[in-house]
Amino acid sequence: MDDMNGKTAVITGGASGMGKAMAQRLGAAGMKIVLGDIEEPALDATTAELEAAGVEALGVLTDVSNLASMRALADTAKAKFGPVDVVALNAGVGGGTGRLETLTTNDWQWTFGVNLQGVVHGIQVFLPDLKAADSGHVVMTASVAGHLAYPSMGPYNATKYATVALAETLRAELDHDGSNVGVTCLCPGLVLTGIFQSERNRPEQLLDTTIASEPIDDEQAARRAVMADIILSQGKSAEMVADLVHDAIRDNTFWVFTDGDFDQAIAERHAAIRDRRAANTPESLLNIYDE
Ligand SMILES: NC(=O)c1ccc[n+]([C@@H]2O[C@H](COP(=O)([O-])OP(=O)(O)OC[C@H]3O[C@@H](n4cnc5c(N)ncnc54)[C@H](O)[C@@H]3O)[C@@H](O)[C@H]2O)c1
Repeated sequence: MDDMNGKTAVITGGASGMGKAMAQRLGAAGMKIVLGDIEEPALDATTAELEAAGVEALGVLTDVSNLASMRALADTAKAKFGPVDVVALNAGVGGGTGRLETLTTNDWQWTFGVNLQGVVHGIQVFLPDLKAADSGHVVMTASVAGHLAYPSMGPYNATKYATVALAETLRAELDHDGSNVGVTCLCPGLVLTGIFQSERNRPEQLLDTTIASEPIDDEQAARRAVMADIILSQGKSAEMVADLVHDAIRDNTFWVFTDGDFDQAIAERHAAIRDRRAANTPESLLNIYDE
């Protein structure tokens, strides 16, 4: 995309974390920003921050897991700013964690609803206009967990592998059609955001009723504290990721990884597939729930 100035970007999960940083970065490039997010106080605060920085911004309370809500986001964005040029399908939750057999239907439904259906709904409501205009760009936020399967994060891994597949499918379809719409598959490693507090946005009807009331013991608490320190010291900044996303939209770059920390493990997985053997499970900082 040669010039972002005056164009419009819709960012789901734009109230905090990486989505907020993308909003600030694209806003600084002159884009009008529409935030779709389920957390109303953060949504209001981020919209106000953008406006105070001179960005034309609109916050729309949105549940990406609900198709009607996503349609309302697209309609409201168009009514306010006209055609949408960039769509960042970024809203996500850490989701239900634990060994596969212990996860509840609610765990699966919540994680799949936000992380996977949210992306599918975004494609359904935004892609037809982008294709008709034969311009614009779609960013899908996947994860390194779309390339490596971490123990105790089954629902999250499944949604992120699926998001990678959706991004690759979209890229292939657009290429086949000779379309000028761009696609980026964002695969962050560890980034300092609110993702580890995702339960804050879990709908009441999808609460995990089987384990939530069990207090964690001292050893588990200590282990989580150590992991929190590691995450704090090693996680990348959301602003750095937003810079990469800005450049990827400008240059129409498909793959965006935020670091090389997982390259070896991903290469080993690819080699294992080539050799028809199981890959070794990589040691993982993200495996904080494996207790
Ligand atoms: N932080 C990391 O280390 C990391 C690594 C890889 C991928 N990711 C992905 O990055 C994306 C952004 O997450 P983040 O790390 O900035 O976390 P975050 O919690 O700071 O931001 C996520 C945003 O999504 C919103 N959200 C949650 N459920 C929603 C729903 N149903 N509808 C609309 N909005 C909803 C939240 O309110 C929040 O503003 C997610 O897709 C996440 O899976 C994060």
